[in-house]
Amino acid sequence: MSAETVTVALGDRSYPVKIGIGIRQEVLAEAQRRLAQGSRCVVVTSPAVAQAQSHFVQSLAQLMPVLVTAQDGETTKSVQELARLWVFFAAHKLNRDGAVFALGGGVIGDLAGFAAASYLRGIDFYQVPTTLLAMVDSSVGGKTGINLTAGKNLVGNFHQPTAVWADPELLATLPPREFAAGMAEVIKHGLIADADLFGLLEQNAPLNWKHPLLPKVIRRCVEIKAAVVASDERETKAEGGRALLNLGHTFAHAIEATAGYGTYLHGEAVAIGLVMAARLSATLHRCTPAQVEAVIATVKAHELPTHLRTPLPLAQLMATMQKDKKVRAGKLRFVLQESIGGASTSDQVPEALAQEVLRQGGAQ
Ligand code: NAD
Ligand code: GLY
Repeated sequence: MSAETVTVALGDRSYPVKIGIGIRQEVLAEAQRRLAQGSRCVVVTSPAVAQAQSHFVQSLAQLMPVLVTAQDGETTKSVQELARLWVFFAAHKLNRDGAVFALGGGVIGDLAGFAAASYLRGIDFYQVPTTLLAMVDSSVGGKTGINLTAGKNLVGNFHQPTAVWADPELLATLPPREFAAGMAEVIKHGLIADADLFGLLEQNAPLNWKHPLLPKVIRRCVEIKAAVVASDERETKAEGGRALLNLGHTFAHAIEATAGYGTYLHGEAVAIGLVMAARLSATLHRCTPAQVEAVIATVKAHELPTHLRTPLPLAQLMATMQKDKKVRAGKLRFVLQESIGGASTSDQVPEALAQEVLRQGGAQ
């Protein structure tokens, strides 16, 4: 087992993200260490992970209680499921030195992380991501939360994990469509911060869980995210900062909501959003038409959509974007592509230009 560690540098809340084939064995060791000290620990996972990774889940279950969520997918990030986790923690007598191990994709990480953040005003939690998206993005940085019927991620908190273990071997059972969705966030990391990473993705497409470059790609994404989070943990910088991680996301969130959650995987909507953001940036003379073509080709090469599968109403997409959490003083906020490997934030984008790229992407 060869592992690499990236540190998320946040003073006394700093933590390691360990990446490597077989690194999940360390999760068992950490649970044993805590249990030996009298700490009570539980695991939260999803039905699909419990089934696909049954061997690993059984090893964990021999050490501590396991809660499998009632459902899979976005609807799991609900008030009802959150309450179920709190009740489970209380039933297993977790106290202030208790800990929660979140084993799953972004849904489980966000839900279990928020349950840990709010139970007893905050107990430790660990992230054991099992999707590519969670390994390169959601397990790092401490954003936790749930959805309301009024919108996605409307209730949540910043609560950093104590450690993260990303084991690419866990991706062996991940459906290919979910793997591709994670690649959208990988491409995003290259686009905002690392032209070399983007070049590697142009040259090596599509990747899969067995590809020898995958651990390096995951590590590079974690390094990029860790640096952004360390510089702007709570996304409060007026320009740039953590908001850069939202490249393509203003469009993506509107696409997900307008099409109906589940129609597009989050990563698929992000892929379309990356193309829209690149077109918008070229229109504003930030990046070049050739760079837009490179974004489109790379998104396609990683088996992701570059435009809407079926047309969505433009007016509804625009109205949804206006409700985005990132809207400040009524102005839409976009992340623009300055080059391959560089991005900026702007709230000066004329609405007509946003409408034009939505139309080019299949809205009508
Ligand atoms: P997900 O958690 O829904 O996982 C996708 C599906 O794959 C689920 O059905 C899951 O049970 C299954 N699965 C997971 N791992 C598996 C494995 N190894 N083998 C077989 N099946 C497996 O989706 P996701 O894309 O990981 O996460 C999306 C969520 O992440 C969204 O709710 C989004 O809002 C959130 N997110 C959060 C952040 C953050 O910073 N906190 C960042 C990006 C996205
Ligand atoms: N995925 C965006 C963030 O963590 O800020």
